[in-house]
Amino acid sequence: MKIAMGNDHTGIELKNIIKEFVEGKGYEVIDLGTNAPESCDYPVYGEKVGRAVADGEADLGIAICGTGVGISLACNKVKGIRACVCSEPYTAKLSRQHNNSNVLAFGSRVVGSELAKMITEAWLDAAFEGGRHQRRVDMVMEIEKR
Ligand code: RB5
Repeated sequence: MKIAMGNDHTGIELKNIIKEFVEGKGYEVIDLGTNAPESCDYPVYGEKVGRAVADGEADLGIAICGTGVGISLACNKVKGIRACVCSEPYTAKLSRQHNNSNVLAFGSRVVGSELAKMITEAWLDAAFEGGRHQRRVDMVMEIEKR
C-alpha cells in the first residue's frame, strides 16, 4: 500500500520520523516534499497529496503543516479527498471507521513525534465500517457535485 506524504517547511523533521515509522510497518511512501527548510506555502503540498490520492497514485495520504489545518484545507479542495486533522488517536481511528478519511493531517507544532506515531498507527490500523456511515459519507461527497 502506498502513502503520499507532503508537508510545508514546519513539517520536515516530523515527516521524516513518520515516514520511517510507516515504512517500518510495510507501507511504501511517496515523498512529495518539501524537503527544503526555506519557508514555503502549505497549499502547494496539500494539493500534491490530495491529487496523488484522488488520482490513485497513492492509497492514502499524510499531510503536515504547523497546525495541520492549512494543509488539510488544501487537501480537501481536491475532489474525492476527506482529510482530517487529528491531534489524538481516538479521532484518527474514528475518522477512518466512520468518515472514511483518506488523508490524515496533523500539526508539527501541535503534536510530538511519539504522539504523531500513535495517531498514525491508530489511523492506519482502522478500517471504514460502511453501513450507516456509507450513506453519510456519500452525502458529504454529493456536496462536491453541487
Ligand atoms: C506556517 O507558519 C504555518 O502557518 C503553517 O505551517 C500552518 O500551520 C498553516 O495552517
